[in-house]
Parts: sequence; C-alpha cells; structure tokens
Amino acid sequence: VLLALVPYVAVTVDRHQRETLGERLLAEARAAGDVLPWDAGLEGACARLATGLGLRVTVVARDGRVLCESGRPVAGMENHGARPEVREALARGTGRDVRRSASVGVRLLYAAWRQTRGKEVRVVRVAMPLTVVGENVAHLVRSILAGLAVAVLLGLAAALAVSRGMLRRIQRLVAFARALAGGDTSVPMAAERADDLGVLEEQVGEMARSVAATITELRVSRERLEAILRSMVEGVVVSDLDGRVVLMNVRAQELLDVPPGFEVQGRPLVEFARDPAWGDVTRDLADGTPVLSRDLTIGPGDRTLQLNAVRLSAADGEVFGLVFVLHDITEIRRLEVIRRDFVANVSHELRTPLTAMKGYAETLLGPAGDDRDTARRFLAVIDRHSERLGRLIEDLLALSDLELGRTPLRLAPVEIDAAVDDVLQIFAHRFSSLRVTAEIAPGTPPVLADGDQLRQVLINLVDNAVKYTPAGGQVRVRARPSRPPERGGMVQIAVEDTGIGIPARDIPRLTERFFRVDKARSRALGGTGLGLAIVKHIVQLHGGTLAITSAVGAGTTVQVSLPVAAPSHTRVPGSHGGRP
Ligand SMILES: Nc1ncnc2c1ncn2[C@@H]1O[C@H](COP(=O)(O)OP(=O)(O)O)[C@@H](O)[C@H]1O
Ligand SMILES: [Mg+2]
Repeated sequence: VLLALVPYVAVTVDRHQRETLGERLLAEARAAGDVLPWDAGLEGACARLATGLGLRVTVVARDGRVLCESGRPVAGMENHGARPEVREALARGTGRDVRRSASVGVRLLYAAWRQTRGKEVRVVRVAMPLTVVGENVAHLVRSILAGLAVAVLLGLAAALAVSRGMLRRIQRLVAFARALAGGDTSVPMAAERADDLGVLEEQVGEMARSVAATITELRVSRERLEAILRSMVEGVVVSDLDGRVVLMNVRAQELLDVPPGFEVQGRPLVEFARDPAWGDVTRDLADGTPVLSRDLTIGPGDRTLQLNAVRLSAADGEVFGLVFVLHDITEIRRLEVIRRDFVANVSHELRTPLTAMKGYAETLLGPAGDDRDTARRFLAVIDRHSERLGRLIEDLLALSDLELGRTPLRLAPVEIDAAVDDVLQIFAHRFSSLRVTAEIAPGTPPVLADGDQLRQVLINLVDNAVKYTPAGGQVRVRARPSRPPERGGMVQIAVEDTGIGIPARDIPRLTERFFRVDKARSRALGGTGLGLAIVKHIVQLHGGTLAITSAVGAGTTVQVSLPVAAPSHTRVPGSHGGRP
C-alpha cells in the first residue's frame, strides 16, 4: 500500500508546489511590473531585477515583441506572442505554463501578468526552473522509500523473531503428533506459554494421555480375551451376519484343519466348514433361531464335532453376529460305540454257554435223563459250560477292576525267576507234549511290580503259548535287562513259542476285548478272548510296554518290558509302592 502511495504523493506534492510557486511568481511578476520602467532603461532594470530576485524576467509587448529578457539581449529573439502563458495573460490578465525552455534547456515555470498604463499594454513574465520542485519531490520520495525500507526490515525482523518461536512450538507439536501416530505415547507435552498455542499444546497433551490410557485399557482387555480364547478347549468362531469370519481361536483352527498362519479374518465361513449342516445352522440363526446345537462330521479323519451356535446381540437387542463353539466329541462317540459293542459282545458270550446249559438241562429233565450214562455225559457238558461261564465272568471282573482302579497296585521288587517258576509249575501238567524252558539272564534285576499281577500276565501269556502251539513245539520264557539303569532301567520278559502264529493284519487288534483270530478254536480251548486285554492293562498300569511279533506257522513272541526296581526298593524287601 505504501509503495502504491509513493507516486500519488509525488504527483500531489509536485502539483501543490507548482501551484504555490505559480502564485508566488505571479505576485513577483506584478511587483516586477511595478518597478520596471516603461521606456528607456528597461533592459538594464530587467537584468538588475532578475539578479536581485534570482529569477528570469521577460517583458513582452502586446504584439509579442520581446522588450527585455534578463540575461540575454533582445535583438534577434523570436516573437513571444504565441507562448501559452503570454497569450493567456493578454486574454485574461494572468497566465501560467510549465515547459522545457527552448533557450535555457531546463523545465521552467512561467508566470505572466498583463500590465496596462493608459492605452499601453505589456506583459511582464517571470520564470524559474522547476528543478527545485523536482528535487524536493525526489527527496520526499527517497525519504519515504528509505522509511519504508527500514519499516519493512524492522517488520521482517520482528516477524522472524516471533515466527521462529511459533515455528519451534509448532514443530514440537508436529513431532509429538507423529510420535503419537506411531504409537509412542511416552513423549510428554505441556503448555509452554499461556497463549492460544499453549491451549492447543495443553489439549493435545491431555488428548494423548487419555488416548494412551484408553489404548492400555483396550490392550489389557484384548489380551485377557485372547488368553481366554487361546486356552479354551473348545473351538470358538465368531462371524458377522453375512457369514464372514471375524475371529477364530487356535483350537477352532486345529479342529477345522486351517493351516497355521492362514489369514482367516473376513473369509466366508463356508470355506472352513465343509459340512453342509454348518450352512444350515448359519441360515437358521440368521432366520431368527436364537440357539442351535448340531453334530458335524469334518475332515479326513471323520472327526465328529459338536457345534453350538448362538446369535450375538448388542445391548439394544440388535443382532450383529454369530458365535459358534466347537467341541471335539470324536472320542466320546468312539467310546460310545466301543461300549455298545462291548455290551453286545458280553451278552453274546454269556448267552452261548447259557443256551447250551439250558438245552442240556431240559433234555436231562426229559426221558433221556433216566439213562445214567447219557445223564453223566450231559452233566459233564453242563459242567464244562458253567466252568467257561465262570472263567468269562472272572476275566470280565478282572478287567473291570483294572479299568476302575479297584485293585490297587502293590508295587514291590519282584524277582523274575521266582515268578516264572511259580507260573510254569501251574502249567506243568500240560507240558507233556511240549518243550518248555525258562532262561533268565544272569544279573537280571528285580522289577518293580505287583507280584500277583505280574504272575497273571505270565499266566495269560504262557497259557496262550501252550494253547496255540501244537504237540512237539517249544515254549521259552526269557528275561533280560533291556535298558541300563542310568536311562531308567527296564527288564524285558519274552514268551516265545513255535506255534501256529498270528496273521500280520490281526496283530494290532489282539489286545481288543473278545478279539480272537479263530473264534471256534479259541472257544474249544477254553479261551475268553480277554487274556491279552488284561495283559495290556496290567502292563500299562506298571508303566511298561507290550510288543507282539508273529509269523503264521512259525510262532509268536510276546514281549513285556517293565521298569526295574530302584536300589532303595531292593534294600527294603516287601516295602509297598504307592502306585494305585
Ligand atoms: N501265542 C499265540 N499264538 C497264536 N495265536 C495267539 C497267541 N496268543 C494269542 N493268540 C491269538 O490272540 C487271540 C486273543 O488272545 P487272548 O486275548 O489271550 O484270548 P484267548 O482267550 O483266545 O486266549 C487268541 O484267540 C488267538 O487267536
Ligand atoms: Mg488267552
């Protein structure tokens, strides 16, 4: 604005000065006219007056002839009648003009006055160079510009000083905001001064503190939720109403065979739920059923999952998602099947001897019973069947006692050779057609076991070996340390025979209850099909292992490994371990 004002001021001042000067010059012209003579001596007076006044003085006649001109002889001067100021003065009494003088070569201000004496008329003109005015104006403009420059410099310096402070504070705010956005809430921020920016600093600092507090709160509750979901046995899946996964815990990913690290969020549920029943559940929920439960079959292992589903609703009752809880019930279902099979098997096993006994008893009650020989034969059959029933019930009770833990293990160091001798004694009467040997490696340590149960194991194994080995065969009972004490000593007891052997595909099933390779043969030999199941149970209770190898026609080897009794046990013979 000031810069724009400069030419305006210059022009105005110039005009004003010229105006004032013009007035003064006119007054001077009048005064000059009064003192200048009309006839002789005019030129001299002119020159003197001009010198005295410091002006240029000219007198022009009515016809334009120059009568005198200060500083120059009039002879040869051109007619001045056409000069604007002269013409104007002749016409109106006074005249003024500014122009570059042809004679002097500078810009001059002319003022002319028409003077009359009687009939005589002349024009007295004074002039002065306008260089002074120009200088004045130029000086003024220079002063203004200089002032302006100083003002601008001062203003800039002041602005710089102020803005430097502001800029630093703003940069501090920016850095703070950036740190906050980057998750760093530890940078402090307080008002530096009590101005507007200070209020902003205060507010931003306060905001950051509350953001930090909220973030911490959220993180804590999120971590708590994650920990709960992680440690759940159940799989949990949360989806939105369109069936897109919002959340899936680790267990659910396992159950649904989702590869680890797979991004599940936002994916449609149907991608994971390969059982169409899940789709039905989702639809039913979306249609308004609040709670649903269904069994799903999933995956290559045909796992059975129980799916419980509910709708998620906000405080105002609006439904915004679905929650699915998955429970792996494969094992439960498997056990149910086993129990059903077991009950069916037991019933069947019990019915056979019972039916036979009832049949023979009825026959005996008839006329056939009168014949003594027949009666004895039939009674023998009944006796055999009742014996079998007894064995069956005996084995079943033994098994159920083992399973229910009703017979506490009385663990103590048991010398193997003694136990083997006892067992072989029991079978001595059946060995007539077999070669039976016991080979206990020297230095075989005692095992930590329940003596009665270890004998039961040996009885069942030797019984099998004897039963399934034809006459002329061989049965060997061997024992040797199989793992040194420093690696947790074990003793391996093996019962080997050269009998009929077992087909490879049946070996894994031998320890199932009632499993028999050849049912009729086993039954004929008085087997219940529970012997190896009992063996397996006892061995497991002792913390041992059972291995069966066999080749059809060549023979069978059953190996039982049991833990060695620790030295402390050996030193106190008969001390009882506390294993239930
Ligand atoms: N040493 C063996 N040689 C051949 N087959 C055997 C031998 N031991 C067990 N088996 C087979 O395993 C089945 C299950 O054995 P086990 O449980 O003792 O029942 P069982 O009452 O029939 O002896 C037997 O019926 C038999 O078919
Ligand atoms: Mg048996």
